[in-house]
Amino acid sequence: MAKSRILVIDDEAAIRDSLKMTLEYEGYEFVGAATGQEGLVLVEREAPDLVLLDVKMPGMDGIEVLERLRAMNDAIPVVVVSGHGTISTAVEATKKGAFDFIEKPFASERVLVSLRNALAQRQLHDENRSLKKAVEVRHQMVGDSSALRNVMAAVGRAAPTNATVLIQGESGVGKELVARTIHRNSLRSRERFVQVNCAAIPEELIESELFGHEKGSFTGATEKQVGKFEQADRGTIFLDEVGDMSHKTQAKVLRVLQEGEVERLGSARTIKVDVRVIAATNKNLEEEIEKGHFREDLYFRLAVIPIHVPPLRERPDDVPLLVRHYMDGFSRENNMRPKRITQAALDALQRHRWKGNIRELCNTVERMIIMTGGDTIDVPDLPSAVRVPGGAAGVKAGGDGAEVKGGTLREFKDHAERAYLVAKLRENGWNISKTAEVIDTPRSNLYKKLEQYQISQETDG
Ligand SMILES: Nc1ncnc2c1ncn2[C@@H]1O[C@H](COP(=O)(O)OP(=O)(O)OP(=O)(O)O)[C@@H](O)[C@H]1O
Ligand SMILES: [Mg+2]
Repeated sequence: MAKSRILVIDDEAAIRDSLKMTLEYEGYEFVGAATGQEGLVLVEREAPDLVLLDVKMPGMDGIEVLERLRAMNDAIPVVVVSGHGTISTAVEATKKGAFDFIEKPFASERVLVSLRNALAQRQLHDENRSLKKAVEVRHQMVGDSSALRNVMAAVGRAAPTNATVLIQGESGVGKELVARTIHRNSLRSRERFVQVNCAAIPEELIESELFGHEKGSFTGATEKQVGKFEQADRGTIFLDEVGDMSHKTQAKVLRVLQEGEVERLGSARTIKVDVRVIAATNKNLEEEIEKGHFREDLYFRLAVIPIHVPPLRERPDDVPLLVRHYMDGFSRENNMRPKRITQAALDALQRHRWKGNIRELCNTVERMIIMTGGDTIDVPDLPSAVRVPGGAAGVKAGGDGAEVKGGTLREFKDHAERAYLVAKLRENGWNISKTAEVIDTPRSNLYKKLEQYQISQETDG
């Protein structure tokens, strides 16, 4: 089994040194911090299994560290140590979620017993939660930037109402996640969340998708079909990529919003539907209106509550939390011990422009986890586009096999393979798992190819 990593936060160097000796002798991995601030940074970066925390420290004291730590992470067990072990401090620490309280001066045996108990409990706790978490985590909105907090506040206000919400933002910023979060926190959460990708459905089929059709209403309509609006009755319909609807469809959707009823193609009967509409687009709808591509009246109907999700580069504070989130997630998924990441690597990730936003970051972290052999991710483990400030260190993704002049068969094959992969990735919105599935290759192999050919969403286009 992997060594448990213990973070000791104590301002006294002598105590840190003696604990380091004891812990390492017992087969633990030791990480030390001399201040509360440093400790909190290390919690994020080193992903310790347990924290041993001194109460009385200059600057941020242990109780405050405990509070902040709990706000960041409620799973790490914390054992509080104090030379001023009054009952009240112990009680306060326990209330704030400390696992145990030890008085200084302490015998190392006492510390070890407490650590073992806390770690054992942590393990049970982890096992219990991992199933539940696997489901929840996928829908969790991670981040603590003020920009994201504004988004979450808007989500909180919008959720319990029936108001139509329009979510705008670049590709990969989390629009779908926002839509699902609104539904999950709404009074309709027990009913369906029906998603329609307006950009993916061919023009001639979209109306029958949305509104349904009767058998025989058009050539090819061999069976009757219930439309998405009807399917979403009493629940939520998510009109994704709403900026890509044709004028004709826009007019029909507007009618549903106004009348609250739909008509199946080939039927004169109208059906009342009670549907909450959430729409999303990565286009700038105001501009689309200017250009005459989008109906202004529909825009106003949709944008009762507008939510703008800012691109990741405008909220770099979220990067470390997201990196940690995905590192833990992928490690769990692959049954690997959580890796750590150096500050320099985190800095580089924070500086990166993230053209593909959170989706690109998620792909990058997964690739790092799979490709890094060791326990620590450092700058050389980052994809070159991230490593080199300003990005775009990789070869441009464009071009196809036809451009190859001369060269060896090998070069031609590589070129063709690269072009194929880029095309498939684009087709699948740079979703690595999906692309790997579509082209029937393991994700790890796809990552190796991306590395080999220096392909990333950042270098594409
Ligand atoms: N704040 C966040 N915390 C954790 N994961 C996030 C966050 N925001 C987005 N994600 C994840 O990033 C990925 C992309 O998000 P999502 O699909 O919601 O983006 P989108 O804006 O709908 O993108 P597109 O315009 O390409 O459809 C998803 O896997 C999503 O779970
Ligand atoms: Mg989306």
